[in-house]
Order: sequence, then structure tokens, then C-alpha cells
Amino acid sequence: MKILVIKSSPHEHSSSNLLAGHFIRGAKEKGHDITEFDAAHGNLHPCIGCDACRMSGPCCQKDDMEGVREAVLTSDMMVFVTPLYYFGMSAQLKILIDRFYSFNGELMAKQMKTALIVAAWDSGEWTMKEIEGHYMTLCRYLRFSNQGMILGTGCGTPAMTSKTRFPQQAYEFGKRIGM
Ligand SMILES: Cc1cc2nc3c(=O)[nH]c(=O)nc-3n(C[C@H](O)[C@H](O)[C@H](O)COP(=O)(O)O)c2cc1C
Repeated sequence: MKILVIKSSPHEHSSSNLLAGHFIRGAKEKGHDITEFDAAHGNLHPCIGCDACRMSGPCCQKDDMEGVREAVLTSDMMVFVTPLYYFGMSAQLKILIDRFYSFNGELMAKQMKTALIVAAWDSGEWTMKEIEGHYMTLCRYLRFSNQGMILGTGCGTPAMTSKTRFPQQAYEFGKRIGM
């Protein structure tokens, strides 16, 4: 299966990317074909809401999103990878997701498989409530088929993350993704 992993941390040494790396290792061992895009270090601009695309493109902004659109529409699965920022996804990832607007219908029709990987500092049982809810609502609206989530609490730095159960969980999740 073709899997597009969308990372979104501004950190060079990132907790969420560490978890994504373990997922990718597992998925590659299973034989999946992985493409990565880093929304935090690409050239992506926020949707300006001009509605010139009328939700079916093309977008009037010419940046990396043209390549991302192609990668999304030729993949079978997307994995959203993000640090937890004020109980939601990073702005870097949200900018990319808002740009789905110009191919909203095509994306819905694909009924893609998706997954979510999050790294957060806190360990409270409510830490991931809102991001989980937002992601599941996106799945419902965009007709994504959720394959699972790695909700890494207590993952405030790569060193903290390495000491948790989540890297192993991410690896096993990658290995479990069906062909
Ligand atoms: C702007 C900002 C907002 C944050 N908000 C939260 C939060 O709401 N809850 C939490 O547990 N951690 C929060 N954190 C901590 C990060 O989620 C945590 O350090 C994470 O490991 C960063 O992942 P990364 O290295 O992949 O960027 C925040 C960090 C920043 C910089």
C-alpha cells in the first residue's frame, strides 16, 4: 500500500517524528511504500478562503500544496503526525489540512485510510480528548477510514518519548497495517 506520512513539527529532533519513524520502520518491514512530507519545513500558505476553487480546484496559490495534492490522491493511506499544541494539532498541520478544501470532493470520494500520531508533554487522561475528537470528526466528514491512533502522552521531548511505551506501540501499529 502507498502510505503518505505528513509530519508537522518545527523541531529538528522531534518527539512526534520519533514516533512516526517507528511507525515507518514497522510499515516498511511489512512491505508498504512510504512517502514523507514535512509540513513544518515546506512552502505552504494558509487557505485564504477566496473560494476560487469552489472546493474542486485548482487552488490559486502556487506552492508545495500542488505536490501534496498529487501525493494524497495517489496514496492509499495518510498518517497525520503532530505535536499537541494547546490540545489541538500544530498550525503547520492545520494549514495543510485546510488546503484540502480545493480538492475536497475528490478526497471524500477516495475514502482513504488514515491514522493519527501525536506527541504531548502532559500525561493527564484528558490530554488527547480534543485532538482525538477533531480527528474523528475529520474522518467522519471526509469519509476517512481510521486505522488507529498513537496518542503519545508524556512525550515532551525525544528523550522522554524514548522511555515510554509509545515508540514500540507505533512500530507494532506500522507492522499491523494491512496490505
Ligand atoms: C505552542 C506549544 C503548545 C503546546 N501545547 C501543549 C498542550 O496543549 N499539551 C501538552 O501536553 N503539551 C503541549 N506542548 C508540548 C508539546 O506537545 C511537546 O513538547 C511535544 O513533545 C512536541 O513534539 P515535537 O518535538 O514533535 O514538536 C506544547 C508545546 C508548544 C511549543
